[in-house]
Amino acid sequence: MRTVICGSKSEIGKLAGKILCDYVKANPKAVLGFATGASPIPAYDSIVEEYKKGGVSFKEVVTFNLDEYSGLAREHKNSYYSFMQENLFSKIDVRPENINFLNGSAENWASECERYSKAIRDAGGIDIQILGIGHNGHIGFNEPGETFSGDAYRVKLTDSTIAANSVYFEDSLMPRYALTMGTKQIMECRHIILIATGEGKAEAVRAMINGKVTPMCPASVLQNHDNVDVFLDEDAAGLTDLG
Ligand code: GLP
Repeated sequence: MRTVICGSKSEIGKLAGKILCDYVKANPKAVLGFATGASPIPAYDSIVEEYKKGGVSFKEVVTFNLDEYSGLAREHKNSYYSFMQENLFSKIDVRPENINFLNGSAENWASECERYSKAIRDAGGIDIQILGIGHNGHIGFNEPGETFSGDAYRVKLTDSTIAANSVYFEDSLMPRYALTMGTKQIMECRHIILIATGEGKAEAVRAMINGKVTPMCPASVLQNHDNVDVFLDEDAAGLTDLG
């Protein structure tokens, strides 16, 4: 893992956004993996800024998002689809037909997950995947468990994840299940950019970087990936052995 400790969230956003934009400039047909949550928003802001300057076009890229709540329609204001529209997709020239999402409304979760896993394979895999990390070390919605997961699947969310994400559900009940890309699929992405900020992430970041590789901290599996950039602020890096 290459780790960079930055002075501010906006500095992280600029660095992470630049990696992604530079890649798309050189590879206009890139396959990009996106994540939701507060952590990647400054990176999305910097991507939008570069797009508005005319520096990059997303017309030919294909996108896949990591996860979606199970039981929420994509039109719901708290769906991850809505999040991506609001924070990135509506502000750049990505083609709607090139945007791929797990369908949270699918009644047959297993076949929906199979469809999504196949779509990622058919696209040739993901070139760059943006990731955040949960307080318990989850990536995507891969919660701590006894084994690392494989392809996309439906997961029961833990109490800590429900507590962290419930703040976004003011007037509706947060779903208790989600569909997510599996750990194996995340490991198959050719380049991973993980962003973590704030003291609340410090223990998860320590376990990811300095702990042993264990499914009890799903992000620790990234120690076995040879192309990961981790962007941290000082608070998130506070419990690691990084200078
Ligand atoms: C959710 C998402 C994750 C994200 C995590 C952290 O659980 N499924 O993909 O990494 O939240 O979010 P935040 O960046 O808001 O702390």
